[in-house]
Amino acid sequence: MNALDLLIADHNRVRGLFTRFKDAHQQDDDTMAIELAGKIFDELQVHTTIEEEIFYPAVHDTDDEIKETVDEGVQEHHVVKVLLEELGQVAPAGDEWAAKMMVLIENVEHHAEEEEKEMFPPLRSQLDAATLDGLAEQLEQRKRDLGAPVLADKADLAKEQLLQLAKEQEIPGRSSMSHDELAATVAPA
Ligand SMILES: [Fe+2]
Ligand SMILES: [Fe+2]
Repeated sequence: MNALDLLIADHNRVRGLFTRFKDAHQQDDDTMAIELAGKIFDELQVHTTIEEEIFYPAVHDTDDEIKETVDEGVQEHHVVKVLLEELGQVAPAGDEWAAKMMVLIENVEHHAEEEEKEMFPPLRSQLDAATLDGLAEQLEQRKRDLGAPVLADKADLAKEQLLQLAKEQEIPGRSSMSHDELAATVAPA
């Protein structure tokens, strides 16, 4: 699986967490909302780190438009980090916390959408397979170093098991995903 597909898998895993967070919030299940917020924070920290340390620098100079999108991406990550820091300073599950969580979610949804629509398609056609595969290896290695799960940890699961996890985790688009896409996307049980 290449670097772009791995990053999209991260996006979809977080989208599932967002859906579950919004459900928990709507049902006033504070315990679940706080637990899911913790998972969201961990995911965003790992994802922004691997993009900023490895992916963004590697693709930045591909062309002028990508350069601009990457520069904007870095600033959007900055906004996410500010929100994460502020979220740590207000009462969990309070009104202010919930409002900040919603703004965080909207920001990340917008940012991920922009990467997938404006940054990844031109990279898919401009970078060769070896470059994208090499980047994938670096992203996975850095994730391991950060203590985060990688595709290989879930690759031995049968498609049925992966689909069940994807369903529980509210992963969008799961029914049309291949075995490896599911394995890259789901969090381990
Ligand atoms: Fe990003
Ligand atoms: Fe991303």
